[in-house]
Amino acid sequence: MQLEIIILAAGQGTRMRSAFPKILHKIAGKPLLEHVHALAASLDAAKISIVYGYGGETVLASLSHLNASWKEQKPQLGTGHAVMQVADDMGDDAIVLILYGDVPLLRKGTVERLLRCTEGGDLGLLTATLADPQGYGRIVRDEAGRVLRIVEEKDATELERAVTEVNTGILAVQGCRLKNWLSRLENHNAQREYYLTDIIGLAVGDGVMVQTTQPADVDEVLGVNDRQQLARLERTFQKAQAERLMAEGVTLRDPARFDLRGEIRSIGQDVEIDVNVLLEGHISLGDRVRIGPNTVIRDSELGDEVEIFANCVIENARIGRGSRIGPFARIRPETQLAEEVHIGNFVEIKKSSIASRSKANHLSYIGDSIVGSDVNIGAGTITCNYDGANKHQTIIEDGAFIGSDTQLVAPVRVKRNATIGAGSTIIRDAPENALTLSRAKQITVEDWQRPLKKRS
Ligand code: UD1
Ligand code: MG
Repeated sequence: MQLEIIILAAGQGTRMRSAFPKILHKIAGKPLLEHVHALAASLDAAKISIVYGYGGETVLASLSHLNASWKEQKPQLGTGHAVMQVADDMGDDAIVLILYGDVPLLRKGTVERLLRCTEGGDLGLLTATLADPQGYGRIVRDEAGRVLRIVEEKDATELERAVTEVNTGILAVQGCRLKNWLSRLENHNAQREYYLTDIIGLAVGDGVMVQTTQPADVDEVLGVNDRQQLARLERTFQKAQAERLMAEGVTLRDPARFDLRGEIRSIGQDVEIDVNVLLEGHISLGDRVRIGPNTVIRDSELGDEVEIFANCVIENARIGRGSRIGPFARIRPETQLAEEVHIGNFVEIKKSSIASRSKANHLSYIGDSIVGSDVNIGAGTITCNYDGANKHQTIIEDGAFIGSDTQLVAPVRVKRNATIGAGSTIIRDAPENALTLSRAKQITVEDWQRPLKKRS
């Protein structure tokens, strides 16, 4: 049967105390709604609708690229009212699945189990048993254990509040039935809202069976209502990612101090990641890569046996086999390092390529440069790439040796096997196989005396 998915995302999220709509708050760097949409997109649905409302313009501005039909709910008169906004588009024969935009950790397997509950015309309802059910709608069953209805906490009697089986809000049922029940919803309740949960009672009244299933792990159905819950779900999500990586053979020195905000495209064998490492965007790591503590790596590819020492920031770079970076190095976008390149402490590389076995071990800035192989860049070397208006290129050819504290004023070329004397300011191309330097002559003033402090 055809599947149609509705994601409810119009609520404000008052308890977040935020200027932004709740569903734009992030887990692992991705908005809550995007997590839910990714789940929906993985389910082979004929249609995904998103009901949005609070902060509508902001929501569309950041998430309109999501492949879905967007329906505005204005004003927001409850979860039932939210689903009504999509009623006209529902296929009568389709199975309609309702997801919540603020429940980001739900798993595909759980949803598939819920969908199987609808086979045979029943209503599928995802429930959970919580030690502390406070705030949730409670599942009311008869003596035979059949679901009768859902009661919201604000409308519940003391006896009903003692029930620990709660409504997760996630349910699935045939489109024509849902439309019929939606048209019969009323708002005679504590919150003066149209509750989606009231369709359970209507279903039972119409003789439709309610089949429940529960998630494998309660964390899957927890919603984000405040910043504490946001932080808790972030940890849960990160822990699950860390577990997955360790299961694949990665050593994490401390899985509680590892964060992935993005996707590992490929990872080799025996990778070791020390504490407080943050990986963002799309990452590839080769065999035996080692990443030291306190390092951020974003959208980068590290070849086999690359070693990153402590406290580095690496962004949009490709680092070749056996290269060593850091400690305290910054590799900026559009950098390509070939094999066995050494970049040491307080070195910044931007938009440059450096060929095999070249070294810049201390205190340098290499920007907009092409550096050959077996080049040695001495401490304190600066490529002066910016004239205040435009950027210019520096080319350093194979085998060149750049003495310490050199400024290479771009555009400039240091040719093959050239040597630049320490402390030079190089403004013209330096020829091959020769020593080039620019330096004031050293003099010694023989009869000079140090000034003395004046006596008062
Ligand atoms: C709802 C359920 C409750 C359940 C709980 C699970 C109802 C009446 N109650 O309560 O039984 O235990 O979720 O988390 O359904 N939304 C809209 N438009 C609205 C109101 C809400 O789109 O007018 C969306 C929200 O953005 C959110 C979801 O629906 O994604 C749930 O809304 P929320 O206000 O959090 O409902 P709860 O009071 O938590
Ligand atoms: Mg809620």
